[in-house]
Amino acid sequence: MRLRVLGIETSCDETGVAVYDATQGLLAHEVYSQVKLHARYGGVVPELASRDHVRKLLPLVRATLDEAGLSPAELDGVAYTAGPGLIGALLVGSTVAEGLAMGWEIPAIPVHHLEAHLLAAMLEDPAPQFPFVALLVSGGHTMLVDVASPGCYRVLGQTLDDAAGEAFDKTAKLLGLPYPGGAALAQLATRGASGRFDFPRPMLKKPGLDFSFSGLKTAVMMVVREREASADGLTESDRADIAKSFEEAVVDTLVAKSMRALKTAGRDALIIAGGVGANRSLRDVLRQEAAARGAQVFYPRPELCTDNGAMVAYAGLLRLQAGHVSDGNVQAQPRWELDSLMPMRGVA
Ligand code: KG4
Ligand code: ZN
Repeated sequence: MRLRVLGIETSCDETGVAVYDATQGLLAHEVYSQVKLHARYGGVVPELASRDHVRKLLPLVRATLDEAGLSPAELDGVAYTAGPGLIGALLVGSTVAEGLAMGWEIPAIPVHHLEAHLLAAMLEDPAPQFPFVALLVSGGHTMLVDVASPGCYRVLGQTLDDAAGEAFDKTAKLLGLPYPGGAALAQLATRGASGRFDFPRPMLKKPGLDFSFSGLKTAVMMVVREREASADGLTESDRADIAKSFEEAVVDTLVAKSMRALKTAGRDALIIAGGVGANRSLRDVLRQEAAARGAQVFYPRPELCTDNGAMVAYAGLLRLQAGHVSDGNVQAQPRWELDSLMPMRGVA
């Protein structure tokens, strides 16, 4: 049976729209990033984010349908990110999606943003087999999740303070890089010397799978201040070396906890999701360490690691197959626990 879903993502600062087809895969995928809009404020301004989604969403829906060569009559559902995220931004996507679904007389499908991230690796070939452990590392979340089957998620550990992406962005800011600085910091680190600064590997010695990154940020700040006060000031090579040592500390921590999570959950496949998953050094070290333990690592391509409509369309398709569709009311939940989701029986 034909099953084709339009996915809409507006939970933060990316407007994402895509069409996913159960047999043909991803038919079209468009993302508009608001990064430039928020850069001058050093972070996402929620009200500006909502207003920009209002401007961009419908034109992007049209462009995506054109790219796929489809008319609305050829769709079977409209999936949308219903949370967690910024309430104003979520409301734009959810009201538009519910409205389109009503007008087109097809179901609307509310989707959990983190479930969509966790399932993004399924869009790749080869796709991982269930069960697996997922490391979700974005600007807002750092989590290890045991994924037994679609909809069955057990959070094994998460950050107690800053998210990994947030730590990258704050450190980048300390080094004078524009927001969001994660990718620029990783670029700067490629020119740095390994191991010059001994930054903490937070919570590595303690048992358990939680993370904490705020101490690391403070340690970087102390070194930056110390170098600024030195006779030479903070030099270009200092900046690159700090970036390198910082990245090494984060990567070591994420890799060690991921390996521990595989052992704890008794799984041999790890998938990486979220914007920090685009980090080259994290990918390389995870691959080596997993291989040494006979485990496999799966990554979505970088554009599917960051926020996008494709992962929402895919998660929406699975929810549609499981019969979990909207009752017609607009759903938008800024906070929404991942382990509260309904399992999807008989799907995938
Ligand atoms: O998943 P995402 O697009 O948005 C959220 O839902 O948060 O993740 C964005 C985060 C930002 O903090 C950004 O700095 C970080 O991912 N990021 C990176 C890299 N590319 C993006 N961090 C480290 N290395 C990268 N190459
Ligand atoms: Zn996200």
